[in-house]
Amino acid sequence: MHGGTDGGPKPRYDFSSNANALGPNPEILAQVARADLGSYPDPSYRALRGHLAEWHEVGAERVVVGAGGSELIHRLVRVFGGPVLALEPTFGEYALAARVASVAYIGASSRREFLAYLPRAAVAFLAQPNNPTGELYDATFLEEAVRLARIHGARLVLDLAYAPLAEVDAPIPTSACLLYVPNKAHGLTGIRAAYLIAASPLTAGYVAAAAPSWVVGGTGVAFLRSHMNQNARDWLLQTKPKLLFWRRVLAYELSKRGYEVREGAANFLMARLGRGAYAELRRAGIKVRWLVDKGLIEWSRLSAQPPRALAAFLNEVDFVRYHRV
Ligand SMILES: Cc1ncc(COP(=O)(O)O)c(C=O)c1O
Repeated sequence: MHGGTDGGPKPRYDFSSNANALGPNPEILAQVARADLGSYPDPSYRALRGHLAEWHEVGAERVVVGAGGSELIHRLVRVFGGPVLALEPTFGEYALAARVASVAYIGASSRREFLAYLPRAAVAFLAQPNNPTGELYDATFLEEAVRLARIHGARLVLDLAYAPLAEVDAPIPTSACLLYVPNKAHGLTGIRAAYLIAASPLTAGYVAAAAPSWVVGGTGVAFLRSHMNQNARDWLLQTKPKLLFWRRVLAYELSKRGYEVREGAANFLMARLGRGAYAELRRAGIKVRWLVDKGLIEWSRLSAQPPRALAAFLNEVDFVRYHRV
């Protein structure tokens, strides 16, 4: 289960997707509109990888492009096998990738358990900040994870999908594999493109070799190229304080009404709206991400949304509460 489209009528207000609610980034859209769609992209993405490498100050042989974060997650698991380790509750694609590849999945329930299982894992994922909790992992924990992964030959992947929208700079150990998924921060989740900076050229080589030819199209190439532009970055920096303010207001309004709220550092939060909330809100044209698939049957994840959406959501919440009394 994901946020966003679900096959039902288009919601009036969508709190279920974590994409930047102020997007799409107009600076990037303009570049993407100019993409050459009349020919194949370079199959090795040499120029793009060169630009990404320069921007991140790493060698281009460590950069792998993919058709979105999910595609790279599945590819990593297909290439390196299992067991796959993650720290629950977290992004469901890690477990799904293990299931699709018919390898074991270990969902650790604490940081201590994650570190204890790490020596047995082939691939271990940590989302920084985590989805759905918004939690940021501290440098001490991450360094210990990197150390154990190195000793035992596990590939530790730090999924940075929401790092550009985090309230504070996320600690990022550069010796892990880093998964960059910029489509959320720029509100462009319809563009299926992301990239991995592997911990070594050898790891990158294996992952790159497992891709179908031309795995990213011209729009994806233009997107990954232009998300590094200063204008695109400026837009992101301008939108971020608004999103974080909207999340805080959402947390405040829900807490005031007696709902338990779990707030992290990201542009979304978790709230204990109860098990019936998803259906009730959906009927009213408001979509939240029910966390039932993570065993959190009472909980929903909600992204930061503009005042009009927030007012409609709170209105509906109050209406339902009033009628329950
Ligand atoms: C933590 C995390 N990583 C990766 C992804 C996948 O990104 P993409 O849309 O590029 O497949 C998501 C999507 O929700 C996510 O939440």
